Amino acid sequence: MKTNTIASTVQAILAPGKGLLAADESFPTIGKRFKELGIDSTEENRRAYRELLFTAKGLPRSISGVILFDETIRQRTGKGVAMPDLLASLGIIPGIKVDAGTEALPAFGGEKFTLGLDGLRERLAEYFALGARFTKWRAVIAIGKGMPTAACIRTNARIHALFAALSQEAGLVPIVEPEILMDGNHTIERCEEVSTAVLRCTFEALCEQRVLLEGMILKTGMILSGADCPRQAGVAEVAEATIRCFRRTVPAAVPGIVFLSGGQSDVPATERLNEISKAPDLPWRITFSFGRALQDPAMKAWGGSAKNVAAAQGALIHRAACNGLAVRGAYTSKAEGRAPHGEPGRP
Ligand code: 13P
Repeated sequence: MKTNTIASTVQAILAPGKGLLAADESFPTIGKRFKELGIDSTEENRRAYRELLFTAKGLPRSISGVILFDETIRQRTGKGVAMPDLLASLGIIPGIKVDAGTEALPAFGGEKFTLGLDGLRERLAEYFALGARFTKWRAVIAIGKGMPTAACIRTNARIHALFAALSQEAGLVPIVEPEILMDGNHTIERCEEVSTAVLRCTFEALCEQRVLLEGMILKTGMILSGADCPRQAGVAEVAEATIRCFRRTVPAAVPGIVFLSGGQSDVPATERLNEISKAPDLPWRITFSFGRALQDPAMKAWGGSAKNVAAAQGALIHRAACNGLAVRGAYTSKAEGRAPHGEPGRP
């Protein structure tokens, strides 16, 4: 195992006041997001959009790493620079989504498992050579009637453990991402109960597979009320439940926990992150690894048109800077209220 590479990557990803930009949408996902805004999902549009994100001036101040999709890690900027080289030149660590999406778990209607282990060892070696230094693998756990089942939780945990061990073998830091979906009318208590069970099982599998806990990062959601639950828990309750769940399940040897946004809109995600970050004496560093909650305003501002690049970059920098403040517990509504081109906290 390239232990030194792994240790330095972990430190760089978890640099204080910074977080990750998840820009690893698969073809169907980016296609869906573009379509909602009337943007054609062509290879050139995807390339141009990701280039505008990565070249936004000031991005490295609050973004330590970017999660790329397979297509993007092989693309070049308009000036001919390979995307991972561009990121590395900015001091941003390139990472890569290596799972191949989810599929129905046989005999368990409505539940899913994640594909992508076949040939993974070879793909990881190639990604390392292309410049990636960390990997991400997402498992999806739904909450519903009789769900999740123990079989679904265990299957995904076992797959996650193999992914993580193979990544470390290749010198890549695995980001283990069990996503407990917000969809449904479940209570925040139920979300906490399911998240606790999933994280316990995941760490048991990781340990059984001899994954180096110091060389991995956990990515998961905040503990929230289901999107359709009539009682929506407030910011303080979310923060308290999230920290309690992590303290009960995530070993102190794990260096960091990063949040997905999972369908929360941008400002509430930042507000909750800010509150969570105020918790004292945590054994892990906590930060963001948002996709939608960082990108939505930027994608909307861009709308597929080159003339809107500056406005889109301004919107991204604003969100990144707000989240950079939130991981220090220093985010305020005043910072949020500044014009998109402003840089909160940096007069
Ligand atoms: P969201 O923040 O949009 O949930 O995306 C993060 C991610 O990486 C999902 O796998």
